[in-house]
Amino acid sequence: MQEVAFMALVHGVYVVTTRLDDKVNGMTASWVSQVSLHPLMVMVSIAPPRYSHALIKESGVFAVNVLTGDHIDLAKRFGYKSGRSIDKFAGLNWTTAVTGAPILPQAYAYLDLKLVHSFTAGDHTLFVGEAVAAKILHPQSQPLIFKKTDFF
Ligand SMILES: Cc1cc2nc3c(=O)[nH]c(=O)nc-3n(C[C@H](O)[C@H](O)[C@H](O)COP(=O)(O)O)c2cc1C
Repeated sequence: MQEVAFMALVHGVYVVTTRLDDKVNGMTASWVSQVSLHPLMVMVSIAPPRYSHALIKESGVFAVNVLTGDHIDLAKRFGYKSGRSIDKFAGLNWTTAVTGAPILPQAYAYLDLKLVHSFTAGDHTLFVGEAVAAKILHPQSQPLIFKKTDFF
């Protein structure tokens, strides 16, 4: 069943970032979805062992950076190692919008979010954020669709 879900459900590829005081971190995530229109709310599904999980829970803020086909390396940089042991932003430019969570200037778009709900869903937590800012940065590009062959 897992293989069917993996192959059949369509997801993008995102870097979900957060900031707790001076500490910034980001992780690659595919399980991201809009869940409300008014107000605009977006959900990210994050496993509790991720460092990002602890930081989002405590800070109450996160940003969703939408990657394009040019960003597979960026997705690997943020998706295979934990920010507990390395600074994944070292050498990268980033900015902020409203919440202070890092925005990657090369992303297709970003949504900057304030955490409003969290729910346990099996072995993940659904963090639901209300958008406080959102912008398409590179309208000539296209959001990246997750393909297993790009990552495994
Ligand atoms: C393409 C891709 C998609 C991923 N999607 C998710 C996801 O939706 N949720 C999740 O918890 N982890 C996901 N991961 C794994 C995290 O990005 C990875 O465990 C990361 O190292 C966690 O970083 P952190 O400990 O600094 O938060 C994904 C990884 C890749 C490569």
